[in-house]
Amino acid sequence: MTRGFSRIGEANKINLKQIKEMGVLRLQLPTDPRWVNIVEKNIEEILTDHAWCEQKAATNAITIITNNPEHQDLVQDLLALVKEEVDHFEQVHNIIIKRGLKLGRERKDEYVNELYQYMKRSGDGSRVSGLVERLLFSAMIEARSCERFKVLSENIQDEELAVFYRELMESEAGHYTTFITYARKYGVGIDVEKRWREWLAFEESIITNYGKNETIHG
Ligand SMILES: [Fe+2]
Ligand SMILES: [Fe+2]
Repeated sequence: MTRGFSRIGEANKINLKQIKEMGVLRLQLPTDPRWVNIVEKNIEEILTDHAWCEQKAATNAITIITNNPEHQDLVQDLLALVKEEVDHFEQVHNIIIKRGLKLGRERKDEYVNELYQYMKRSGDGSRVSGLVERLLFSAMIEARSCERFKVLSENIQDEELAVFYRELMESEAGHYTTFITYARKYGVGIDVEKRWREWLAFEESIITNYGKNETIHG
């Protein structure tokens, strides 16, 4: 399909080798693979938490669209992203049904909450800064989710889930790149690279408290 402008999301797919090396995500601390031993003891819990992570990812992208309708390419790429997140939600839900498990109520995500609070106190109050901070907040969650899916896919005994998480890892890596790239594109007058380094440092300071529960970010 020809469009009058170039879309970033489609041009920025990360290949599997790049994800495996993980350097592309620039996370400061890797997840201890022993976290998977905790997850494996309660598959219903991880799947429920995961399903709601996908719902929250879709909701967050809709919020960005709602607040920034003038950026046509951003709106179009995030609409595509919303569809992918809803599709992920459905895939997780289908696995839950197939296994005779139940989708529980939405879980609080303390990790995301800490990033959200950091986002709220960041920026200079301008609209541009608000957009950049929201995009970096989104990129941060995608990067860590991608890393968690990688750790799951490489360590979980359940073969169906290992394949599933490998596929999702690739998709979330693409979302990470989309958010970062739009932060750079629309962060006019903002040192986005510096802000991203600060986001990475903040994430490093909180992630040490996680990796102990059977949730995607727990
Ligand atoms: Fe997703
Ligand atoms: Fe995503």
